[in-house]
Amino acid sequence: MDLYEFYERRVYPRLLGVAMRPFERYRSAVLQQARGKVLEVGFGTGLNLPFYPSAVTELTGVDPMVEVPAAMRRRLDESRFPVHRYSSAVEAGLPFEPETFDCAVVTWTLCSVADPVRGLEEMRRVLRPGAPLLFVEHGRSDDPRIVRWQQRLNGMWKVIACGCNLDRAADQIIEAGGFRIATLDRFDAAGLPRTHGHLYLGSAFAQR
Ligand SMILES: C[S@@+](CC[C@H](N)C(=O)[O-])C[C@H]1O[C@@H](n2cnc3c(N)ncnc32)[C@H](O)[C@@H]1O
Repeated sequence: MDLYEFYERRVYPRLLGVAMRPFERYRSAVLQQARGKVLEVGFGTGLNLPFYPSAVTELTGVDPMVEVPAAMRRRLDESRFPVHRYSSAVEAGLPFEPETFDCAVVTWTLCSVADPVRGLEEMRRVLRPGAPLLFVEHGRSDDPRIVRWQQRLNGMWKVIACGCNLDRAADQIIEAGGFRIATLDRFDAAGLPRTHGHLYLGSAFAQR
């Protein structure tokens, strides 16, 4: 294992747990709408698990991350519903039949997926008609001065945050993946640099 692989596999998953703490209230807000069989893409270390409501009956988490830190195993053990992990990149194709899931979730993930439009098309394929895609993403600011900073910082940030892009317009990517946005709240999260904290929070439905 080279040094970067060590960072990516062992250090980054632990850093995520700390770095993502200020965002818990946004997870909680959007995940209240989750129900039934959920597909969560970018499952990571399972940080969303404690925020799912009782209407969720089962969850499948997709993520190429291979290492499972102890904290994540604890979250899995404490889950109120069965959790299945599938270790792969979403755009490589999902091994599920069409119309399998009642709900899909992405949180801080479309920024990191190498081909997010292809990934969303795959999610759309396995969602039941009328099933929502719930999302909380960070991305491109609505202030052109901040966008220029996001673009300047992007190369370095992608290395630090294992492929994360600062300047992706999450709403446009979701629509390009074949979804119609139903609700969207865009704002700068308090207490964070505007380059990193411009959030897109909402829901979308597959175009049929
Ligand atoms: C910033 S982390 C967010 C993790 C988690 N969703 C959360 O809300 O804390 C981005 C996650 O996306 C995952 N990811 C990156 N590329 C992916 C891909 N192609 N398919 C699925 N997940 C991917 C990473 O492994 C990582 O777990």
